[in-house]
Amino acid sequence: MDSNTYSYDVTQYESFPYKQTHPNHLYTLGSLFGLKPKPYATARILELGCASGGNLIPMACGAPENECVGIDLSIKQIEEGRQVVQSLGLKNIDLRHQSILDFHASEGQFDYIICHGIYSWVDEPIRNKIMQICRENLAEQGIVFMSYNTLPGWNMVKSIRDMMKYHVQSFNTPQEKATQARSILKFILAGIKDQKTPYSNFLESEINLLSKQSDNYLLHDHLEDVNHALYFYEFVEHAKQNRLNYLSDTEISHMFPANLPAGISQEISKITDIVRLGQYMDFVRNQRFRQTLLCHESIVLNRNLQTDQIMDFHLKFEGVVEGDENALSVDEAPLSFKNNLITLTVKNHFSKIAMWLLSQQKKPIFYGDFISLLLRETKIQDRNKIQHMLNQELNLMRLALGGIITLSCEPLHYALKPPTTLRSTPLVQHQLLRSSLVTNQRHEVVRLNTVEKVLLKLCNGTHSPQHIGRAFAEKLIAEKVPLLKEDGSIVQEKEEIYRRSEYISKEILNLFAGNALLLDA
Ligand SMILES: C[S@@+](CC[C@H](N)C(=O)[O-])C[C@H]1O[C@@H](n2cnc3c(N)ncnc32)[C@H](O)[C@@H]1O
Repeated sequence: MDSNTYSYDVTQYESFPYKQTHPNHLYTLGSLFGLKPKPYATARILELGCASGGNLIPMACGAPENECVGIDLSIKQIEEGRQVVQSLGLKNIDLRHQSILDFHASEGQFDYIICHGIYSWVDEPIRNKIMQICRENLAEQGIVFMSYNTLPGWNMVKSIRDMMKYHVQSFNTPQEKATQARSILKFILAGIKDQKTPYSNFLESEINLLSKQSDNYLLHDHLEDVNHALYFYEFVEHAKQNRLNYLSDTEISHMFPANLPAGISQEISKITDIVRLGQYMDFVRNQRFRQTLLCHESIVLNRNLQTDQIMDFHLKFEGVVEGDENALSVDEAPLSFKNNLITLTVKNHFSKIAMWLLSQQKKPIFYGDFISLLLRETKIQDRNKIQHMLNQELNLMRLALGGIITLSCEPLHYALKPPTTLRSTPLVQHQLLRSSLVTNQRHEVVRLNTVEKVLLKLCNGTHSPQHIGRAFAEKLIAEKVPLLKEDGSIVQEKEEIYRRSEYISKEILNLFAGNALLLDA
């Protein structure tokens, strides 16, 4: 592959961490459905099409005893990733400039194979090879993560891709193509401005979404030559030809028909075949993208989730609460807990306390610790009774299937409050040297402004929250980073910078803690 012409060398892909691909998450889903996956800490992880390692490098940093292998066809992206690996002195990751087509079964077994944003963007021989690698190189209890564009949803997006591709065909450079793609979108948007037809409504919302994306995204995700969207059942068929089986979606709430509108959920729930069920749900939702987990077909999966399986997991409330704490002390006053799929309204005292306490946890709480918390906070002094009441009155597993609670197997390692010694990870410190985007302990991207960057750089193990304010002010002055007043004007006087830095640093440190950027002392 000539690096002067290969599209991912000419315009590199922005490589980010994807939380849903993290082995801890895959482990959780595998365990839920009856697999015995290898823990992340010691797993072998393969990423196909890893770009510059934005997803894989943090996975290597987080578990020095694991082994990560990433391959990509773009030499420039791989070189960029290798520089990071070298700077951080990581010994457990190998980033290789290699085509998927050249990956060999002799590479051995991997506990997790991640293939994000590749399958729909490569042609058939490579798609076949991806499935072959999964068949040959996946450990017995291993899990594959694969994402792809799906029909019927992509049918509509395809019409916009077709317009852009048609318009940019006579332009040569990526920059020209991106500019022209934007200009055709603008042109069409202007043309439909006063219309209120289904077509114009669709175009307007899609074009508005696309306009916010980077050139990079437009060029690769929409304008690459190959963009193969398929039905979910076709994807699973391809997996089955390779003796792989559908394990689950990355979000379990997407799999459960009870989360569909009431009018349809009962009827659709009668479908017993999980792939057919998923396909009909895609028809209803006009699904355009899927993130699917696969395992070997020999694994006997548990599709009959039981309420008490919840005991194995850490729980995190992911919805919003309607009502306030006062409702806890007023008999029969309702409290509602909702997300975009379900609403749970509770009136009895125990359920209100339980859901309220869960909603206040900043980190996932282990089920057993949640019971202990309820023992302390209610008058019920019997663990079994609390468990029984949780099952009867709340059915936390049902709430997990509704996506209002997320499940995880591993505790997360970060400080909830600024600790006495302020420290972020070596990876974050390295990312700060050249970017405003850093990877937090939840495997998410956090975007920082220039002032926040200055403070996070100081969280390198040498400062306490009490003393960081002064160092912060000195850095702001030395690096000429403007500190803004409430009215938007710049603070000029040095004394004022010192004074403000004291309390601004406290505010930002709390923000860092909330964003999982500070390590426990
Ligand atoms: C859309 S990007 C996705 C990158 C990354 N997985 C992500 O989701 O951010 C596709 C990547 O696949 C790589 N790729 C495409 N064909 C490949 C092949 N035959 N072998 C290895 N990598 C390939 C590209 O170089 C590019 O980095």
